[in-house]
Amino acid sequence: MPTSTLPQELVLGSLRIDTPVVLAPMAGITNAAYRRLCLEQMWRQGVSGLFVCEMITSRGLVERDATTVQMLVFDELESIRSVQLYGTDPVYVGKAVEILCAEYGVAHVDLNFGCPVPKVTRKGGGGALPWKRGLLGEILAAAVTAATPYDVPVTMKTRKGLDDDHLTYLDAGRIAQETGCAAIALHGRTVAQSYSGLADWDAIAALVDHVDIPVLGNGDIWEATDAVRMVEQTGAAGVVVGRGCLGRPWLFRDLAAAFAPPVVEEVAQRPSRSPTLPVLGEVRSMMRRHAELLSKHLGEERGCKEFRKHVSWYLKGFAAGGTLRRSLALVDSLSALDQLLDELDPDEPFPVAELGTPRGRQGSPRSRVVLPEGWLNDADGSGQHVREDTTETTGG
Ligand SMILES: Cc1cc2nc3c(=O)[nH]c(=O)nc-3n(C[C@H](O)[C@H](O)[C@H](O)COP(=O)(O)O)c2cc1C
Repeated sequence: MPTSTLPQELVLGSLRIDTPVVLAPMAGITNAAYRRLCLEQMWRQGVSGLFVCEMITSRGLVERDATTVQMLVFDELESIRSVQLYGTDPVYVGKAVEILCAEYGVAHVDLNFGCPVPKVTRKGGGGALPWKRGLLGEILAAAVTAATPYDVPVTMKTRKGLDDDHLTYLDAGRIAQETGCAAIALHGRTVAQSYSGLADWDAIAALVDHVDIPVLGNGDIWEATDAVRMVEQTGAAGVVVGRGCLGRPWLFRDLAAAFAPPVVEEVAQRPSRSPTLPVLGEVRSMMRRHAELLSKHLGEERGCKEFRKHVSWYLKGFAAGGTLRRSLALVDSLSALDQLLDELDPDEPFPVAELGTPRGRQGSPRSRVVLPEGWLNDADGSGQHVREDTTETTGG
């Protein structure tokens, strides 16, 4: 695809997003505070993207489970509320979508069919479910039927398949299209790969060729240039960015710039627009902002605790010493955080060796995908009952 035809917006049914950029749902990460942090970065460019809430379970929502309900918090700046649901039972999924639309005013619902965690696939959920084409269709149809009166687009997110011998993504794309989904997002790995190896962008291109609905490409976007390259190589309608923005919310301003409409004379150079590398002083300000937003949404004590897991991502490659890093990873108040952040050299340049390198989960491939007994014997599963738990804490 030539540079000049890069998509400049994302259209999901009647919903239009200024940029073809989606923050991937990440359990334990993409809460209201983090979504706002990333959103603020895009606002600096005068545009917005789609920022998906961490996954919640359909059954948890329908049964008004306290943990689930607590996760359904939105920042006042979030004009487009986007939620990812996990579900294996069409009845729960339909009811949950109805609740999200009627009571929470969501503008977009995504359904998770990509989770590789054995605890989830053992029951036939997450990344295992698309093997049952009939059941997948029933779940998607239930979601679309519930969302249609509210004009809310439903999308699905999936992986290539169980493993290389059991690929499901092309069928999933067809089923998503037939049931009225507004788009399908593909993480170019199998469940067996988990987060290991490289995401297969050729599979994303194959899905683009296979369906008429928009395909969102996901996997291994570490820099804005990767996002542009993915869209150019695959013809995807947009990108879904996960681990690349861990500790780097400013990636969203780079992404906004990369997909911004070019001024004519700029066309030739757009893909190489260089990232706006923050010095440590700016990273420090973003860390403070992140902790502040977490404290606003969760209270200071819980907010600071939540912030701890982000410290090593923010400081990756910077010279900060071990003692300071350890203290930051134990921070329990905003004032303590301020004191510690003061110890960081604001003029330290961004460690360019970090650019383009993986961060977050990588893991190793699984020798086999844990599935319910006899799961592979029937590839339809219509009407099949797959147990749905109230809470699933891992979604990816
Ligand atoms: C900490 C973490 C949590 C995740 N949680 C979810 C989730 O709840 N739902 C989901 O569909 N994917 C989840 N994922 C997967 C990501 O959305 C994304 O598909 C994956 O990380 C690949 O994209 P990336 O290479 O841009 O990270 C998670 C990934 C990580 C690292």
